[in-house]
Amino acid sequence: MVFISIQEAIKQGKGKVSLHGWCYRERGSNKLRFITLRDSTNIIQCVIEKDKVSEVIWKDAESIGIETALELTGEIKKDERAPTGYEMSITDLHIVGKCDNFPIQKDTSIEFLADNRHLWLRSRKMTAILKIRSTIFGAVHQYFRSRGFYEYQSPIFQPTQAEGGSEVFKVPYFGDSVFLAQTWQLQAEPAIFSLEKIYTLAPSFRAEKSKTSRHLTEYWHAEMEMAWSKFEDIQDHAEGVIKACIKAVLDTNQEELKILERDPKKLEPSLHKPFPRTTYTEIVKELEKKAKMKVEWGKDLRTVEEDILSEWYDTPVIITRYPKIVKAFYMKEDPENPKVVLGFDIIAPEHYGEIVGASQREEDISKIEDNLRKQGENPRDYDFYLDTRRYGSVPHGGFGMGTERVIAWICGLENIKDAIAFPRTPDRYKP
Ligand code: 4AD
Ligand code: MG
Repeated sequence: MVFISIQEAIKQGKGKVSLHGWCYRERGSNKLRFITLRDSTNIIQCVIEKDKVSEVIWKDAESIGIETALELTGEIKKDERAPTGYEMSITDLHIVGKCDNFPIQKDTSIEFLADNRHLWLRSRKMTAILKIRSTIFGAVHQYFRSRGFYEYQSPIFQPTQAEGGSEVFKVPYFGDSVFLAQTWQLQAEPAIFSLEKIYTLAPSFRAEKSKTSRHLTEYWHAEMEMAWSKFEDIQDHAEGVIKACIKAVLDTNQEELKILERDPKKLEPSLHKPFPRTTYTEIVKELEKKAKMKVEWGKDLRTVEEDILSEWYDTPVIITRYPKIVKAFYMKEDPENPKVVLGFDIIAPEHYGEIVGASQREEDISKIEDNLRKQGENPRDYDFYLDTRRYGSVPHGGFGMGTERVIAWICGLENIKDAIAFPRTPDRYKP
């Protein structure tokens, strides 16, 4: 028997087909049973009439419950009343995997769904999100590879912190201890002397206790680093890769956006309009003027402020030149103003927060050492990193994009946890 997907069957629209999948819904009487079959591609209503099938088949049909795995053969035809516009009249049926009382029923709590995440992945919502996630991962690879970037990997076990010592996971390492990577960056910069333009898509780890709708302890980080860059090049690539993700989703996942009730019109400006570029100082002024929010110059922007300013734009906004004291030790001091760095964040619209963090890298070793000392770090621990500035240093920079934040925004999710199959947060590492 040749099985085709439900989507292919719907496309074919008529004739005899064989499908396999799982029972999504079932109802019926003692003469007629309606089984909605689902596979990874779609759902289809199937009808089994007692008079038209053998006794054995009818008996099997009566035993089908939600999530029973099935092989079905029958005639497919158009039917406006069916959920996806087609109905299949079943002539043969085979139960592949029984399922009694699937634990997830209607109206289960969020906590219950989280405990049963391994089963909840089968939901139409999670299926739609995971497909969009796959599109976005593909788009990131495609964007960089088609522009001459090499895919490159840094180690996950790292000797130092990179993005703030308090947010790092320390793990035992044969009597010593190491840190889980917060970023690929410190071992990526040495590789630009070999490959010049590199990117990665890898997990990053943050021991952030904050339980918010945008923080995970393990997330997938799309990062790039390039030699010979100007500050604007990094901004252009960050904007470029975000646009590429949106384009890929709009081209590939209209059905999934519909299932998620996400209006694609909300995403279109980000595809067609250039992202506004402004500075931290400008934003601080605007916050006071437009929103009566006073941010003391030198303080980092908080979630509340990012949310307010995100309402001013229908695309992501690029905010450059943050105060040096709030940013990482490796960011390049602005030659025109030593109080700020040539770094930028990209804030997504609709309250989805910071989706990219980036900078041109500091080349002056003494400045890097100074920054490290101010953070309570010993510059000698970073000697391997400082060598990048000792032996043929060139202007360079890069960025990191939180893929789950981008997925949450593109899908219009309420919580970042749904942007990944098995979310890891301060209070959940199971299942
Ligand atoms: O701004 P961050 O900390 O920047 C870096 O790690 C740089 N080393 C990147 C680079 O230049 N190569 O993190 C980058 C992005 C953030 O903008 C955010 O989108 C995401 O990573 N991110 C998180 N996503 C989910 N959960 C968390 N706890 C995150 N922390 C950061
Ligand atoms: Mg950041």
